Amino acid sequence: MYTSITKIKEDVLQCHKCSLGASRKNTVFGEGNVHARIMLVGEGPGRDEDELGRPFVGRAGQLLDKMLASIALTRNDVYIANILKCRPPGNRDPEPEEAAACIGYLRAQVALIKPKIIVCLGRVSAKHILGQDIRIMRDRGVWHKVKGFWIIPTYHPAALLRNELLKKDAYKDLLAIKARFNELGE
Ligand code: SF4
Ligand code: URA
Repeated sequence: MYTSITKIKEDVLQCHKCSLGASRKNTVFGEGNVHARIMLVGEGPGRDEDELGRPFVGRAGQLLDKMLASIALTRNDVYIANILKCRPPGNRDPEPEEAAACIGYLRAQVALIKPKIIVCLGRVSAKHILGQDIRIMRDRGVWHKVKGFWIIPTYHPAALLRNELLKKDAYKDLLAIKARFNELGE
C-alpha cells in the first residue's frame, strides 16, 4: 500500500516490470489535481507524451482540453493518467501482460486521489478498468457504480479526431459527466 503519490511516482520512474520499460524515453505517470473529483484515464503514452513525460500533450490532448473546456473544466480540476505508464512501440494496443504489470500503479493512484468519477477514455481504458470486453460504440455513456466510484466509458479523443461524427455522442457523455459532478457536490 502506498501512502503518497510521490512514492508511486518514484517506483514508476524506475519501473521495469514489463518490457516497455526498456523502450520508453520517459515514463508518463499522470498529473493534475490530486484532490480532483474527476479522474480521466487514457490508454498509454503516445510519441509526444513519451518525449515530454506528460499525459495527453499531443493532438488528442489538445482536443481533450477543448472537451474539458466545453463543460467549464480545466486540467486543474481533474487528474489525468493512463493504464500504461510507458509507450508501446508504434502506439500499438497494450499486451495483456503489460497492462497487468502496470495497472497496480493506476489502482494506487485511484486509492490515494479517491475521485468520485472515473472517465475511461476509449475501449482499452474501459476494458481494463471495468474488467470486461467493451465495444465502445455500444457501451459508452453508461454509468457503472463500482466500489463507490462512478465510472463511465466514453470515446478517446484520438477517435474523435479520426471521426468527427462521434463528437455528438462524446458531448452527450461530457454533459452527463458534468451533471454527475454537480450532483455529487463537494
Ligand atoms: Fe513498469 Fe508500467 Fe512501464 Fe511496464 S509500462 S515498465 S509496468 S511503468
Ligand atoms: N493517448 C492516451 O491514451 N494517453 C495519452 O497520455 C496520450 C494519448
